[in-house]
Amino acid sequence: MLSRLATRSLASSRPLARSFATPQQSWSRGMKILAIFYSGGEAAKQEPRLLGTTENQLGIRDWLESQGHEYIVSESKEGPNSDLAKHIVDAEVVITTPFHPGYLTRDLLNTAKNLKLCLTAGVGSDHVDLIAASEKNIDVLEVTGSNVTSVAEHVVMNILLLVRNFVPAHEMIERGDWQVSDIARAAFDLEGKTVGTIGAGRIGYRVLERLTPFDTKEHLYYDFASLPAEAEKKVRARRVADLKDMVSQCDVVTVNAPLHEGTRGLVNADLLKHFKKGAYLVNTARGAICDRDAVAAALKSGHLSGYAGDVWNVQPAPKDHPWRTMKNPLGGGNGMTPHYSGTTLDAQARYAAGTKAILENYFKGKAQKPEDTIVKDGKIFSKAYGAK
Ligand code: NAI
Repeated sequence: MLSRLATRSLASSRPLARSFATPQQSWSRGMKILAIFYSGGEAAKQEPRLLGTTENQLGIRDWLESQGHEYIVSESKEGPNSDLAKHIVDAEVVITTPFHPGYLTRDLLNTAKNLKLCLTAGVGSDHVDLIAASEKNIDVLEVTGSNVTSVAEHVVMNILLLVRNFVPAHEMIERGDWQVSDIARAAFDLEGKTVGTIGAGRIGYRVLERLTPFDTKEHLYYDFASLPAEAEKKVRARRVADLKDMVSQCDVVTVNAPLHEGTRGLVNADLLKHFKKGAYLVNTARGAICDRDAVAAALKSGHLSGYAGDVWNVQPAPKDHPWRTMKNPLGGGNGMTPHYSGTTLDAQARYAAGTKAILENYFKGKAQKPEDTIVKDGKIFSKAYGAK
């Protein structure tokens, strides 16, 4: 794994600039910054805009090293011999992404002697044990908003591909077959259907905005907080206070809430019983919000006609994960992909720039944006993660 480990410190490559040497200024210290990204292989060598990879390193290596910081980048994140476990011990900042999550568990955080900041390059910091981080006074920040449009577009695509039975239609063409009735028997229009979102924040609301021109029947949402009346009106949305009540009215349910203790396993066998028979479920939020086996069973029985999304309870998903191959009784209904909806090249440019801005604030001791702040001063700060 060491061959994949890209580590160069200024100490070994460039002299420390004198202007950064004032010891009392926090930004003047050279600090150890550890980043866990996936290896992008040939694609990342050919495409420098694949910034969230071990090869392209968010494009911040030169900037960090010019300030005297040591930047360790690796994809190795699992187990006691991983680079994550080895380097977290004395790193001050750890950068992770939700796409190849370095799981910052309580046990791992307990080994971290200098850690002050866990920074998610993207949106969704559930791979960090937020309670443990707050107890240890480690701040957790993410680049809020950086990929919400990317995900909202993906959700709309997933809804359409399920409702219109797109995937089996394309597979039929690749096989060399042509039997329109086998596809059309399970293909519908989105027009006139009821769509509900669990979570109507940045992504959930953008999904409803994008669905409005499809002349859907109604939009429902289930969230801690009401949207402003004007915002509800704009997307024809109605809040439903009870989740079972909401899902029982929906042809399509989409999950757009963070993963925390209040949402883990929220869509389980019991809730699925309340879904309309033949409904579609789209989850690009986090895999663990939906119960793996209950979803696979509901699709297999036809209680759900389709399930699509890009997030998995463990990432990378094991080869035998049931969501890779599960199908409805007609042999379709699966729109799963690897986790990429929020990591389009456009999104990568935004979360790389946002990560740099957060680091810059940190080095200079400047206040961070409240909307980027998940854990601060020993407390969960973000309302989306349950702060009061
Ligand atoms: P946001 O914070 O703007 O909105 C989340 C909404 O969920 C808030 O309105 C909050 O009140 C609501 N919520 C929280 N707990 C809830 C519960 N128990 N029941 C109902 N609603 C609840 O967050 P944003 O930007 O919309 O992102 C949502 C999630 O989407 C992220 O936390 C992340 O897990 C996921 N995501 C996935 C990406 C991907 O690439 N697949 C990329 C970006 C985000």
